[in-house]
Amino acid sequence: MKVKKTHTVSGRIDNPYLREFHEPRHGIARYAARDALVSKYSWAIPNQDALDTLIELSPIVEMGAGTGYWASLVTKGGGEIVAFDEYPPGSSEGKNHWHPQPYQWFDVQKGGPDVVAQYADHTLFLCWPPYAKSFAADVLKRYMQAGGQRLVYVGESQYGCTGDDEFFILLDQFWNVDTFVHIPEWDGMHDGMTVYSLKEKIGSIYPLLGPRKADADLWDMVVDFQGEPPAWKYVLTKQDVKRAQELYAEAVNFAMQNDLPISSCRVEVGACLSPENQRRFGVFLNFNGTAWQCSYKRAPQLLTPRPGSFGRAAIELATDDVSKEQIKALGLKKVRNEDKYRRVVTIF
Ligand SMILES: C[S@@+](CC[C@H](N)C(=O)[O-])C[C@H]1O[C@@H](n2cnc3c(N)ncnc32)[C@H](O)[C@@H]1O
Repeated sequence: MKVKKTHTVSGRIDNPYLREFHEPRHGIARYAARDALVSKYSWAIPNQDALDTLIELSPIVEMGAGTGYWASLVTKGGGEIVAFDEYPPGSSEGKNHWHPQPYQWFDVQKGGPDVVAQYADHTLFLCWPPYAKSFAADVLKRYMQAGGQRLVYVGESQYGCTGDDEFFILLDQFWNVDTFVHIPEWDGMHDGMTVYSLKEKIGSIYPLLGPRKADADLWDMVVDFQGEPPAWKYVLTKQDVKRAQELYAEAVNFAMQNDLPISSCRVEVGACLSPENQRRFGVFLNFNGTAWQCSYKRAPQLLTPRPGSFGRAAIELATDDVSKEQIKALGLKKVRNEDKYRRVVTIF
């Protein structure tokens, strides 16, 4: 991954937001300035490196473009960009609560996630997609399904103020990070521009991810299981965790191909104690794309103890989210005593 660092205050393209951002202010005045300037310009502050990156990767389709400030500077710098928003500010009479004032820097057209399918040959640009809403994931899925290959994302990372879990799962599973570009940040924000390219075409098995930093604690715990008490030797190995990630990638792939929500994917790896052990106690690791969970239980499926471990990846859909046609076509089975349908993808 390449990292572009910058500390420039001025650049080739006239950028009034950057100048106003750098005006000396302290304490509460800085917070007040943020409120006014994000509404007037953008939720993220473009600098010359970020604009050059977009210009290099143009033509661009920007979704959720707000006032169109970034798009106006990309155009001034010689890039090609089309921009859409559900409520282009200025033309939507205060309906866009992220940009209540009528500032409009570019001809932002009215359009939601479906529009992006017409621009699969453009680089997709998402800048501060709304927090905890499906917008970013919806746009990205449609772009991928239409054959899109390149994404520029500006915002915080997972568990920050932008996008939702499904969006970050898609990034993890399907996209490679090419470049990170530093941009100025408002106090307390962890903003940045990341350039991604698609790993492979949809329909193939995607390369596995190594353990992410957030999983590191669990990873160690899993390794610890092999130590104490001695009977737990080989209960869960690194290989099991790796396999779980592989299964999860397959499940996500399956969901993408069948237009199912990624949140319906689950994977579980479990293990019983060694056959000599009479307690028939199971250890399970569940992964839903955002967090691993570990549980111990006496599990009926482990009543016949066997050595080694097993794993399964499942697509689980709430009864309300699935049609009779889908149940049939996908071979889903009703989960006993639960309001769910399930299709187990793989067992080992
Ligand atoms: C936090 S603002 C960011 C706007 C702009 N990208 C920026 O950085 O200032 C989120 C934007 O996403 C737009 N948006 C939210 N849901 C949308 C949808 N379903 N279709 C199109 N735009 C949407 C909002 O109208 C808003 O302008």
